[in-house]
Amino acid sequence: MSNDLPAGVERRTYDGRERLATQGEPVYGEPTDSDGWRAWDAGRSKLGAMLELDMDTGLDGGETVLYLGAASGTTVSHVADFAGPTYAVEFAPRPVRDLVGVAEDRDNLFPLLKDARDPSSYAHVVEADVDCLVMDVATRGQATVAIRNKQFLADDGRLLMAVKARSEDVTAEPDDVFDDVVSDLEAEYEILETAQLDRFHADHLGIVAQPK
Ligand SMILES: C[S@@+](CC[C@H](N)C(=O)[O-])C[C@H]1O[C@@H](n2cnc3c(N)ncnc32)[C@H](O)[C@@H]1O
Repeated sequence: MSNDLPAGVERRTYDGRERLATQGEPVYGEPTDSDGWRAWDAGRSKLGAMLELDMDTGLDGGETVLYLGAASGTTVSHVADFAGPTYAVEFAPRPVRDLVGVAEDRDNLFPLLKDARDPSSYAHVVEADVDCLVMDVATRGQATVAIRNKQFLADDGRLLMAVKARSEDVTAEPDDVFDDVVSDLEAEYEILETAQLDRFHADHLGIVAQPK
């Protein structure tokens, strides 16, 4: 049985191929329809890959989202198309310049030039009890970042996380890295589902979890 896509995410055909799509202003040269829907490229988005792989993200549409590792806004632009208030944390100034441009077309997208390892630096801005914490930070200590940011997540909220093996250890076997990250996360999160994202992103693991 396939999991439902969130409201505001559809499968549409572009160039003869069915793809995920959201409705909003184009951001990265993606194919668009005349009625304002635009293709969501799972090859450029770990969350897109998790939805394409039919992971049960628990997203219904309209959620409050804290997104860590927003870069220039490729994925978070799609999230803001179907979600509610969307707080986008990124610590590199250059991509944040583009992210601010993406937010100009989206009233519900709030870019934050902050370090996700230091949640106290944005705790005064992000509302409490967000429904969803999305993480795509290519950094060492990805489980630690998820644990530090758990404070923002509602008790019944979801963590949707993409782990990049090479960011933890370039020499280790990805499966060993994934085991370690999952084991560290289990101190604070119940793991609901994991899936390798290799069809779209080499050496990445998708994780769906909820706070313990
Ligand atoms: C793989 S890219 C994110 C791509 C983006 N999520 C997307 O799908 O459009 C990872 C990003 O995490 C950012 N990052 C790494 N460590 C971070 C930290 N401690 N705080 C905030 N951002 C961080 C990097 O600067 C980079 O832009």
